[in-house]
Amino acid sequence: MIRTSFLVFLFSLVSAFSSVSVFISPDAAALVAARKMADQILQKKTSVLGLATGNTMIPVYAALKKILIEEDIDLSEIISFNLDEYLDLPSSHPQSFRSFMFTHLFEDLLYSPQNPRGIREENIHFPSHPSEYETLLEQVGPIDLQILGIGRNGHIGFAEPGTPFSSLTAAVHLTETTRQDNAHSFGGDLNQVPQKAITMGIATILRAKEILLLAFGEAKAEAIADTLRGPLSPETPASALREHPNTSFFLDEKAAHLLNDSQIQRFYHARILLDHQLIEGELWVSGGKIIPPQEKADLEIDVGGNILAPGFIDLQINGGFGCDFSRNPEKIEEVAKQLLSFGVTSFLPTVISSSPEQYRRLLPKLQPRSFGKEGATILGIHLEGPFFSPAYSGAHNPSLLLSPEKNSLERTYGSLEGVKLVTLAPELLGASSCIELLQKQNIVVSAGHSAANFDQMRAGIDSGIRLATHLFNAMTPYHHRNPGIIGSVLLNPSLPYTLIADGLHLCPECILLCWRCHPEGLILISDATEALGMPDGNYQLGSLNIEARSHQIYLAGTQTLAGSNLQLDEAVRRLHAITQCSPAEALEAASLKPAELLNLSSKGTLTPGADADFLILSPDLTVQATYLGGQLAWPR
Ligand code: F6R
Repeated sequence: MIRTSFLVFLFSLVSAFSSVSVFISPDAAALVAARKMADQILQKKTSVLGLATGNTMIPVYAALKKILIEEDIDLSEIISFNLDEYLDLPSSHPQSFRSFMFTHLFEDLLYSPQNPRGIREENIHFPSHPSEYETLLEQVGPIDLQILGIGRNGHIGFAEPGTPFSSLTAAVHLTETTRQDNAHSFGGDLNQVPQKAITMGIATILRAKEILLLAFGEAKAEAIADTLRGPLSPETPASALREHPNTSFFLDEKAAHLLNDSQIQRFYHARILLDHQLIEGELWVSGGKIIPPQEKADLEIDVGGNILAPGFIDLQINGGFGCDFSRNPEKIEEVAKQLLSFGVTSFLPTVISSSPEQYRRLLPKLQPRSFGKEGATILGIHLEGPFFSPAYSGAHNPSLLLSPEKNSLERTYGSLEGVKLVTLAPELLGASSCIELLQKQNIVVSAGHSAANFDQMRAGIDSGIRLATHLFNAMTPYHHRNPGIIGSVLLNPSLPYTLIADGLHLCPECILLCWRCHPEGLILISDATEALGMPDGNYQLGSLNIEARSHQIYLAGTQTLAGSNLQLDEAVRRLHAITQCSPAEALEAASLKPAELLNLSSKGTLTPGADADFLILSPDLTVQATYLGGQLAWPR
C-alpha cells in the first residue's frame, strides 16, 4: 500500500503501514502536526484525542493553540485523554501532567459562557485508576488521533522497556533513564521525580485509529532507529507501532539521522540548484549518490521550501580551529569536522611556503581521504609556494622562497602524491617548465604571489596556468600601462580566479568589478588560518607568527594581512549581497566552479550520479544542514 499525501509517505523497509517524515526543524514538524490535529477536530467535532506531555509537545501545542484560536475552531465537543500521569503527585502540583497540559494547551481554550466553543473541563481526562481509565476509554473511544513522544529508551507513554505489547493502562515504575530525562522539570533534582506513574498500555495506545509520534533531537536518534529498524520487541516499546495500520513518525533531522544510510531518500519541497538556477523540485538520494527519481522512497524529507545546493569546496584553507596544516596537520580531522558547519563538504588543505624537509613531513599527513560523514573530504593538497616573487611574499616567510630554476619540483616537495593545485609566480626563471611538468601530472597550476606583467602572465597561461590565486592580493596592482595578472584574468573569459571575499582583503567595489568583468571565473576561497573559529589572539601560519585582532588576521606586529578567519558560507553571502548576483550564482562560486576547476564531475553538482554531498540553506543562504554521502553530517 502506498500513500502519497503531502507529508506522509511509505516507509517500506519498516512496514507496509508506518510512514516517516523528516522535517528541517522541530518547529516545522510541530506546525504540520498541529495542523493535522486541528484538521481532525474540524473534520469531526466530537473527536477523541490522545495527548502526550513532554518537551517535544511544547512547540506542537503552541502551534495548535494558535491555529485553534485564530480559526476559532469549535472544541466544545472534543474529548481528550492524556497518556499518563505521575503517581504520588497531587494533580495540582506544578509538575503534574495535568498542570503541563493546562499551561501549554488548555488554559486559554477552556469553555466558559464567554467562550462557548471552548473545551469543557469535564472532557479532559488524566489517568488515576487503571481499570476506570480503560473502561472510560472503551466507552468513549476509540481515540481518533493519538499523539506520542518517545523516550530515549524507546518508551511510549510510560510503557517502559519490557512492557508487553498486550499491556493495558497500569501503574508502573519509572526507569532511571526516564526519571533522569524528566528531572529538568523538577529543577534538576532527581529525588523530586516520582518513582511511579500510571500510563496507558501499549495495547491501549494501539487501539487508536491514527497515531502520530514526534521525536526531535539527537538524543532520540537511537530510539528512533531501534523503533523503525530494530526487532519488534517489548525492549523497544515504540516498535509495537509498526504493527499499527495508521502510524506516522514526524522527526527532525537530528532524530532521523541514523536512518539515512542506504535507503532511498527523497528530499522534497525544495528549491534545488540545477542548471545554474534554483528550481522547485525534489532530490533523490541512495547509496551516497544522487539518483534519478524513483517510484517510491524509504524516507521522505521535507526541506521546508529551503534551498538544496551542492556542498562547498574550499580550494585554499591553511587550517582552522587551532590547527595549522603547515605546522601541525595531525589535527586535520577536527578541522574537517568543523568545516561542515560552514557548508564545506570538501577542501584542499593548503601548505604555505615551507622548507623541503617540512614538505616531506607535512604532505603525507594531508593526503586525500574521506572521513565518512564525520568531516569534509580532503580532495588533495594545495601547495601555495615556495616559487614566489620576493616582492609579493605576503604572509610567506621570504627566507623560504625558492627559485624554480635552481630547485626542481622533486627536490622541493619530495613527492607530488595527492597534490591537486600549486600556486607559483609565472614570471620566475624556470617557472614555465615547472608549470608544464605539473600540468602533465594533472595538477592545476595557479598564478599568485607574483610580480608578473601582462605578457609574463600570458606566457604562463601558454605554459599551462589555469587559475589566478586570490586575485588582487599579493600581485602587481592593476596599472593602466601594466594591467598585469589582474588585467589578464579579467579580460580572459576562460581563466578562473579565486577571491577572498572577507570584507578586508578586497573592498566591495573590487569584488563587484570582478563580478562585472568576469563572473564566470569567480571562485570563492576562505584562505582561512588556524585562527578560523578561534578568539582573537596569537597564532601561527607556518613558520610565521600571526595575530587575530578584531577578527582580522595580520602578521604579528604588522598591518600585513595573513590569511583570514573567513567562513566560506559567509563569503557566499557577501558575494550575493555585494554583486546582487542570484543565489544560484553565489552558491556555484563555492561549489560548481571549484569542482570544474579540479575536473571533478561528481562534486559541485546535484545531477544524478554525483556524490550526495549537499546543503540545505535558508533563503538568506544560511547553512541549515550539511549532508555527506546522503547522510546528515551537520545539522544547525
Ligand atoms: C509524556 C510521555 C512520554 C514522553 C517521552 C518524551 O506524556 O508519555 O512518553 O512523550 O518521554 O518526552 P520529551 O518530549 O520530554 O522528550
